[in-house]
Parts: sequence; structure tokens; C-alpha cells
Amino acid sequence: MPEQRSSQWYEGTDRNAYIHRAWMRRGLPANAFDGRPHIAIANTASDLTPCNSHFNEVAESVKHGISEAGGVPLNLPVVSLGETQVRPTAMLWRNMAAMAIEEMLRANPIDGVVLLGGCDKTIPALLMAAASVDLPAVVLPGGPMLTGTFRGVALGCGTDVWRLSEEVRAGALSQAQFLKSESSMIRSRGHCNTMGTASTMAVVAEALGMVLPGLAGTPAPDSRLLEGAHDTGRLVVEMVAAQRLPSSLLSRGSFLNAIVALAAVGGSTNAVVHLLAIAGRCGIELSQDDFDSTGSDVPLLVDLQPAGRFLMEDFHRAGGLHAVLREVRDLLDPTALTVTGRPLVSYLDEAEIFDREVIRLRAEPLQPHAGIAVLYGNLAPNGAVIKPAAASDHLLQHRGRAMVFDSVEDMHARLDDPDLDVDADSVLVLRGCGPKGYPGMPEVANLPIPTKLLKLGVRDMVRICDGRMSGTAYGTVVLHVSPEAAAGGPLSLISTGDIVVLDVPGRRIDVEVDAAELGRREPAAASTAAYANPTRGWERLYVDTVQQADTGADLDFLLGSSGSKVSRESH
Ligand code: FES
Repeated sequence: MPEQRSSQWYEGTDRNAYIHRAWMRRGLPANAFDGRPHIAIANTASDLTPCNSHFNEVAESVKHGISEAGGVPLNLPVVSLGETQVRPTAMLWRNMAAMAIEEMLRANPIDGVVLLGGCDKTIPALLMAAASVDLPAVVLPGGPMLTGTFRGVALGCGTDVWRLSEEVRAGALSQAQFLKSESSMIRSRGHCNTMGTASTMAVVAEALGMVLPGLAGTPAPDSRLLEGAHDTGRLVVEMVAAQRLPSSLLSRGSFLNAIVALAAVGGSTNAVVHLLAIAGRCGIELSQDDFDSTGSDVPLLVDLQPAGRFLMEDFHRAGGLHAVLREVRDLLDPTALTVTGRPLVSYLDEAEIFDREVIRLRAEPLQPHAGIAVLYGNLAPNGAVIKPAAASDHLLQHRGRAMVFDSVEDMHARLDDPDLDVDADSVLVLRGCGPKGYPGMPEVANLPIPTKLLKLGVRDMVRICDGRMSGTAYGTVVLHVSPEAAAGGPLSLISTGDIVVLDVPGRRIDVEVDAAELGRREPAAASTAAYANPTRGWERLYVDTVQQADTGADLDFLLGSSGSKVSRESH
């Protein structure tokens, strides 16, 4: 076997090699240090990340595969983020997780890594880290949960929480029934079963070429996930032997393939900031505009919540990602490689659609144009995004009076006031929710419809925000407005009563206030002050160095790669 990176720790007769070996010899035989590859399983298992709580069992299958192929498997627990649990928002910690994982991959005597992720931020953080260390790496998505039902109807976790809670506010569902649905929402192990951010990032990671082909979307309790985990373990050992690195696999074409996949499956807007951040680590040219130019004419082929009806279990049964990609094969870069060394497109010949209700033929799409539209205008000089597939057609060109909220707290305090001066044509503006302003860019952009309008039957309104939206959410929501209000963006200058014009076909988002008047206005103080103005710790570092959403909201000093070299010994 060729000399492994880990041999730099273990090979030789000196004191340091002795120390490195001796402390690892708890169950490892002497031949574990004979030059065979040491493979970390970067494991985001945590009881506080309920979507990933089954990962230790999955890791066992990975270990068997690694051992079988002649490697040494090593469990490496890494920072984990439970989307529903961590405050103030998991996005504040994505870059921290990525930084910590990157450093631990580099610091340890490993030759390759399996990236075991699931819940929303875990796969992005793992991929950002792996790209910056550039060791052979393969993503193992932990899989979505099975479909739960309530009163005979399938529940899409996330999406149906928004829907049912709105029904309660509208008086159409009792509080008791709402609470009764709670025990049905999460049926099994696994992450959210809609095409939310977790499912999206698993699919996107496979379209990038970073997952064992055919595995993304396999439900967490499905025995085929453990089989895939075993095969992933075998594969990473082969990748080390071939020195198949992220830098040798990932190209601009890989990212454009991921954008095509994102559009065709109706994936989460969160994939925009995550893919931009991963590309930034790889040093690959990718801009927000690429999502529009490459993705917006791709047909929506998957009838999954939140854009459609079905759930991930149905998606897997219907043929999964390869069945979708086969329909749009001509839009894919045929040279983009996968972790196996073969091009992504080479896996599509045998793909089949087994349920044409769930996965549509190209000739019968759910919508002819999916993807993400990127808007510009005097409200978003550096851009904002909208997911037309999740929006209401009648609102895609709209003119209305702004109702401005300076913060999430301000919005909660006033939204249900019966005297709130809004009607169905109003445009709800929420600012102070960008990367610096919140801080962490929370998923609040789909702010609730005011109760008085809900009771009149209004279910969607134009909403504008410098924050993000949950991948499980829906509505006519303009989000990721850049620059954000707290970074001096014009969103800080808009006032309640100003007329806002949304023109999605024209790719515009403007306020009808002339430039001279906007120039005279002072930024609204409440929308520009970073929350609690952090003075220490991670929040301080984050607020000082985070970039805007249009470039991926990574920390400015984390762009690029430092490779896997560590030049100094520890003793
Ligand atoms: Fe973990 Fe949705 S909360 S994936």
C-alpha cells in the first residue's frame, strides 16, 4: 500500500510514534499501524439532534465496510446541530461546526473521512469542512423519516406544522386537535420527510457527486441505508488508495449539476447559501445568479411537500434522485465526477420512474419552470431570492403598501393586533434578520399572515426579509435580501406605507421612493443594531466576520482551503 497520511503519526521507532501508537492500542492490533488507511467517521450523532440520533447504528455499518476493505474505522463525534433545538438559530452555528470539524479532520491522524450528516446544517457544515481539508471524503446522508399520519392523512413534518398552526390561528382547527397531531408528526428515526433543507442537502450532495450514487433519500429505518453505509465504508478505503480528493472531484460543473437537481426536486432556498459557502471553500466560481441562469428554466418534476403533495418515502419508492436526473440529463455536465470516480450521468441509464404521480416525466412537469429566481432592485442591490414554485401565481407581480417590522420581536408584538393597518395587498417587511442583524440569519422570512387577514381567508401575502425561510415552508417570500439592514442595506430605509413593487418575471424588487429621498432617510436604528451587540465568544467573531447571504454567509477568513498538512508534532 502507498504511504498513508496517518503513517506520519504512526510509522517509526521514535518516541513520538510510540506515543501515537500506544495510546491507540486499546483493541487495535499491531497491524492497524502497518500503513493501512485510518478512516474517520465524522459523526453528527447527538441526542439533542433528534434527526441524527440513530447515527451510531449507521456508523457501525460503515465501520464494518471500512474494516472489510482493509481500513481502520474510527468514530469521530463532531459538533452537531439540532435544527429544532438550538437557539437562537442553527445557522449561527453552521460556520462554527464547519470550522471545528475542519480543524479536527486536519489535526487527527486520518487518511479519509465519511461525513455522516442529516439534520439541516450538518451536511453543509461537513462538506465545507471536508472541502477545506481536502482529504478523501464521502457524504453518508442519514435518511428521512417514514411518513406519519394524523386522522388518516399523511403529515409532512415541518410543512404541516406551519399549516396546522395557521389553521388554529384562523379558527379552523381546535388547539386540542393541533396538540393531538404532535405525537403523529414524527413517525420514526430520520430527518424531516418533506423536501425541506435536510432532504434537499442530501439530494444536492449526491448531485454534487459526494454521495455513493443512489443512496440519498433512502429512508432512515430502511435496511438499505445500512447496506449503503457498509458500501460507503468500503468505498472510502478505495478513495484513499486512489487519492480521490474533493478538489479532484468537485468542479463548477458539479455545482451546476447540483443546481439543476435542486430545481428539479423543488428543493429548499437554504441550498443557495450552503452551496455558495461550499463552493467558496473549494475556490470554485459560483454566484447567486448561477441559480437563476441554470436552475430557473428547469421543470419541477417532483410532487413533494412543500411545493406539492408527497413525502420522501414516496420519492424513494418512485425512483429517487436518479429517476429525476434522467429526465433532465441533457442539462447536466457529463464530465462531473462522483466519489466512485465515474461521472454522475453514467448512473442514469438504469434509472426508472416507478410512480409518475410522485416523479413526473419531463413532458408532464408539475411546473414548467422551477428553481430559484434572483431579484435585484433598490431594495436589494446585491440580490434577493424567491422560490416561485412555493409562491402564489397571482402574487408574482404585485404592488402593495409596506408594513414594516424592525425585528422578530416587533413582528410578534404587533402581527395579531386587530388594528394593524394591513389588507390582503399589503407587503409585510421584516428586517434585522440577516447574518449580522439577528445574528445568524434565522428562518423567519415566511412571517405569519396577520390573524385578522387569516380570518378573512387570506393564506398568502408578499413578504420580504433579510433572513431565511425553512425549507419546509411555502409562500410568496422574498428572502436573503442583500445587503441586510444591519449591514446598511436599503431595507433599513423603507417605512410603513411605502409602495413596494415585486416583479418576479422581471426579476425586480423595488420600493417606489426616489433615490434622493432614500438618500435623505436615516437607517431605522432598531433594524441595524446587532442583537444584544455581542461582546465576546463565537457570536462576536461571527458578527465581525460573517459575509452576506449573496456569497454564502461564511466567515470571511474561512474561504478557501488549508489542505491537510500539519507541520508540527504535538510533543
Ligand atoms: Fe432536523 Fe428538519 S428538524 S431535518
